[in-house]
Amino acid sequence: MDAKSIRHKFLNFFQDKGHTIVASAPIVLKHDPTLMFTNAGMNQFKDFFLGNKKAEVSRVADTQKCLRVSGKHNDLEEVGIDTYHHTMFEMLGNWSFGDYFKKDAIAWAWELLTVTFGLPKDRLYVTVFEGDDGDRLAFDQEAFDFWKSIVDEDKILSGNKKDNFWEMGDTGPCGPCSEIHIDLRSEEEIKQTSGAELVNQDHPLVVEIWNLVFMQYNRIKDGSLQPLPNKHVDTGMGFERLVMAIQGKKSNYDTDVFQPLIQHIASLSGHAYGKAKEQDIAMRVIADHIRAIAFCIADGQLPSNNKAGYVIRRILRRAVRYGYTFLDLKTPFLHSLIEILSQQYLDVFPELEGQKVLITRVIKEEEQSFLRTLENGLKRLDQVKENLGGKSDTIDGETAFELYDTFGFPLDLTALIASENHLKVDEGGFDKAMQKQKDRSKSAAKTETSDWVVLEDGNDVEFLGYDSLETTAAVVKYREVTNKKQKLFQVVLDKTPFYAESGGQVGDQGSIDINGKRYKVIDTQKENDLIIHILIDFPEVVTGFVLAKVDASRRQSVMKNHSATHLLHAALKETLGDHVQQRGSLVAADELRFDFSHFAKLTDDELAAVKARVNAQIRANIPLKETRNVPIAEAKEKGATALFGEKYGDFVRVITFDEDFSVELCGGTHVQQTATIGNFILIQESSVAAGIRRIVALTGDKADQYIKEQLNILTSLKQLLKQPKDLVLAVQGLQEEKNKLSK
Ligand code: SER
Repeated sequence: MDAKSIRHKFLNFFQDKGHTIVASAPIVLKHDPTLMFTNAGMNQFKDFFLGNKKAEVSRVADTQKCLRVSGKHNDLEEVGIDTYHHTMFEMLGNWSFGDYFKKDAIAWAWELLTVTFGLPKDRLYVTVFEGDDGDRLAFDQEAFDFWKSIVDEDKILSGNKKDNFWEMGDTGPCGPCSEIHIDLRSEEEIKQTSGAELVNQDHPLVVEIWNLVFMQYNRIKDGSLQPLPNKHVDTGMGFERLVMAIQGKKSNYDTDVFQPLIQHIASLSGHAYGKAKEQDIAMRVIADHIRAIAFCIADGQLPSNNKAGYVIRRILRRAVRYGYTFLDLKTPFLHSLIEILSQQYLDVFPELEGQKVLITRVIKEEEQSFLRTLENGLKRLDQVKENLGGKSDTIDGETAFELYDTFGFPLDLTALIASENHLKVDEGGFDKAMQKQKDRSKSAAKTETSDWVVLEDGNDVEFLGYDSLETTAAVVKYREVTNKKQKLFQVVLDKTPFYAESGGQVGDQGSIDINGKRYKVIDTQKENDLIIHILIDFPEVVTGFVLAKVDASRRQSVMKNHSATHLLHAALKETLGDHVQQRGSLVAADELRFDFSHFAKLTDDELAAVKARVNAQIRANIPLKETRNVPIAEAKEKGATALFGEKYGDFVRVITFDEDFSVELCGGTHVQQTATIGNFILIQESSVAAGIRRIVALTGDKADQYIKEQLNILTSLKQLLKQPKDLVLAVQGLQEEKNKLSK
């Protein structure tokens, strides 16, 4: 059975059991301060577990793109060294939101594995939570009894909190779990040591394939557990491991999920896979990492120097370095794997094929630039060696750290090159330098978030901001957030006109009147689906209702910029071609910034055409057509532009400015007719990354002001040109200023 059929069989099985099949959420998360990447299938359903939101259907199943390279679930160091961990992997899952619980979850998992997929029962082990004194939790008798009715008792093992109590992070929904493990060893090996002894012992052939989590609790900040309003099921099965088991392989990398990639790497490097340990590891690392890189770029995250972007950059460098050191791949090669990968996922993740050209270019440029720094780093190492001049045989920790920090040299690479030169590296010193930097960034970024103080039940926040800018409301809950710089308050209302930053549009500012006193709202943010007002101050007691009021003039400027962004997007598509896709945007009050895929600098003529087209559409005074709750399929059929890496629900909002010109899926706020935008001017066109251009533009008052300033400069210049003597004096003046400054 090939990997594709296995995936389909899983989904069909749960569809037959009344589950709705949903799409994978993007792998890069945008509105979750606790996570940068999706690390489990349940992330997108977190609010259903916590009772923050009601699920439309109570049973769903999917395959979720996950990445485990940071935070609580981090497998990076194992990847490639072993044969069954990955950075990016697919998690097959089925969920019950307050519907079925342990009994059905257990029975169906067993039926799927042993009947549908025909895995041998005697090779499967199941585990049950043994309980935990610290958390005052008892042995999971209920799960044990269900398992006992279908599995021999000697195949049921109990496990501790580490293995059998699943938590997404330090806080959040959690619960006891039952894992299913498979023993893939030979009969002879099994005769010598029973599989039961090897479960959870990091044996590469006795591995966990499925985790059935019974969500019952919410872990809060003080570490205690609170029961959830309802009980839920969250299961996650490692797709790549399942394929290994069904295909009778001994390594995930021997399945048809990875072999096409491995074979390509083998042929590029001229080394066969399966011949030498170090080269095999390098091939596995590369085959694994390219998937993480490609899926993240496809979902909108470019490699960069901070946060999620830096994670991608590090993974990419790791792959390049393995190729460089162990496979002698000294020129860019990673990007050539995208063709294979995009074909492989055509049926389930077409976003790779859809953005193939862009992903390839971005990776190639990153590879080129890292290969250059790699060369420079090697030169720096030569210098270091020379400075040591035979007096010492150790590269000090600070220097090794500089190589790591500035040149992207992992410590093991420095150590490897050092040993070739009969030198050592002071690894303790390196760790110290690293720790120093971590402490610096930690103390700069450390944020303390207190638990919510809940004043009202219910979490369904009603957003009124499309229709009004002011409302009375009740405070649902609030909490204190402190970082090094200041103490802030996050406040949730039962209804609000405040737009929370999303889709590129900045969050609203304004005020909330509480107990008759005015409190300033400095920003509005989203956390999953909660709308959070950020205040500098907040009273200790809240009496009665509050009055929430958006800063209307700021919002008006933002709306002009948002509508102008849609017009700009459409005009760019018209002028440059359909390959133009939005890759990011910032819709602020003072300017708009629009990033899009296009492979060359825009010519003056193109820029002039785009600007003229947008201004013509503004003058045509096209009315806004806003439709809410449109089924997503219907919206897409009408040609509405959707963005890669955005998570859309089943029902979407469509913003249209002339059906033949601009139709977009959008949650933002817009002007009622285009003439309100006023003037539109482009002030900058530049490159952000390979194949991605950025336009910065102004509208309304800001555009007028900019034009006025430019005119003033022109007038003064003209004036100066009429009086050459003044011009000379002016230049001399400037020169003197410059001299003063340089002194
Ligand atoms: N949340 C569990 C896991 O990630 C099951 O889906 O293992």
